[in-house]
Amino acid sequence: MQEINASIDVDRRLASQDIAGSKAHCRMLVATGILSAADGKAIETGLDAIVAEIAAGTFEFSRELEDIHMNIESRLAERIGEPAKRLHTARSRNDQVATDFRLWVRDALDTLDGQAKALQAAMIEQADRHAGTVMPGFTHLQTAQPVTLGHHLLAYVEMLGRDRGRIADCRARLNECPLGAAALAGTSFPIDREMTATALGFDRPCANSMDAVSDRDFALEYLATAAILAVHLSRLAEEIVIWCSEPFAFARLSDAFSTGSSIMPQKRNPDAAELVRAKVGRVIGQLNTLLIVLKGLPLTYAKDMQEDKEAVFDAADTLTLSLAAMTGMIEGARFNAERMHEAAGRGFATATDLADWLVRVLGLPFREAHHVTGRLVKRAETRGCGIEDLSLDDMRAEAPGITADVFAVLGVENSVKSRTSLGGTAPDAVRRAATEARRRFLATAEATGGIKP
Ligand code: ARG
Repeated sequence: MQEINASIDVDRRLASQDIAGSKAHCRMLVATGILSAADGKAIETGLDAIVAEIAAGTFEFSRELEDIHMNIESRLAERIGEPAKRLHTARSRNDQVATDFRLWVRDALDTLDGQAKALQAAMIEQADRHAGTVMPGFTHLQTAQPVTLGHHLLAYVEMLGRDRGRIADCRARLNECPLGAAALAGTSFPIDREMTATALGFDRPCANSMDAVSDRDFALEYLATAAILAVHLSRLAEEIVIWCSEPFAFARLSDAFSTGSSIMPQKRNPDAAELVRAKVGRVIGQLNTLLIVLKGLPLTYAKDMQEDKEAVFDAADTLTLSLAAMTGMIEGARFNAERMHEAAGRGFATATDLADWLVRVLGLPFREAHHVTGRLVKRAETRGCGIEDLSLDDMRAEAPGITADVFAVLGVENSVKSRTSLGGTAPDAVRRAATEARRRFLATAEATGGIKP
């Protein structure tokens, strides 16, 4: 029974939240006259001593005492005796654990936000540096149109910005206090739920005591937010793997983030990127785990819900590590501009620019310009050259009105320079976008930290 029932190995991570919750509860009990001031003082002093024991590593966590709540309460009784037994008045482990866990997830959201912001900062930095660095833009991983590396990196800055928006949304919805819901029905003691909610940094108490002890949708939202963020990281990781591969050779990771092979001395493997790509599996898996745990539970509390914490802790640890590694990789990555430029010109990447020129200058309908360009691409293919290398005669054979001016739009530089539409890849636009991104994402006030006991 102890093996399956005890959760202390996992929920000991809630210790500081549990103590903060107990202190807030204790002060409220004193303020409402439910507990004497002397008992309240003894309890607070005892809890402070336990904080110190835990910090010093001398606190003995015991499986026989099942979970963090019982471990701390029992140690408190050892230290201060009788008053400790009054602390659990007007509360239950059900509202206690729901409160602790919300506090923990709130801190985790703040950590996640800070890390996502740090990664955005690293990416904006590189994007600014490479606002004019041309690279191939892909669809289907086939060369499509030239873009700038800065533009490509800023795409991820936007994704991370939405991730941070989800973090903020989740935090706002989470921030209601379950404490005082007691086991499920509320309590007959004259408690002050506003007081405990405020003390713990919550916006308000949960409105319904049954909801307060039985839902874990805040944890689901955390995991869903985490899973989407992890998917973004995984896509970026995959791009890093591709860019660092020998046939591409667009990028090189710093020595700190490259590993060697035990047999092939020339290898520089992007292990960290591969691991970030793989670890998303755990995060998605934990979201699934908790969805499945909760899906059939009748109201209110059931012990099934004890499984919520391991899922969230694992996802949080995984993401913290992944974000740190990704930020390190991005900060130290070096890009091979020459190589990317050369690749950008391959595969008739400026065919669309030719078609656009035919529309703009000769007034051809786009569909026809598309056909003409297609025939010119064929010609270039047979000649074994790029479209910009075709002679004017070759050009005129397909579209008699073409003049030498056309060559001005065909190089990759010209191509990206011309993409000045809002949100487009022109170097000047990318420089402006990087400045805007700094203002939108980096200048905002830090998210508020969680409460400390
Ligand atoms: N360790 C438990 C959990 O994490 C605490 C709540 C126990 N409540 C109960 N009614 N047995 O869910």
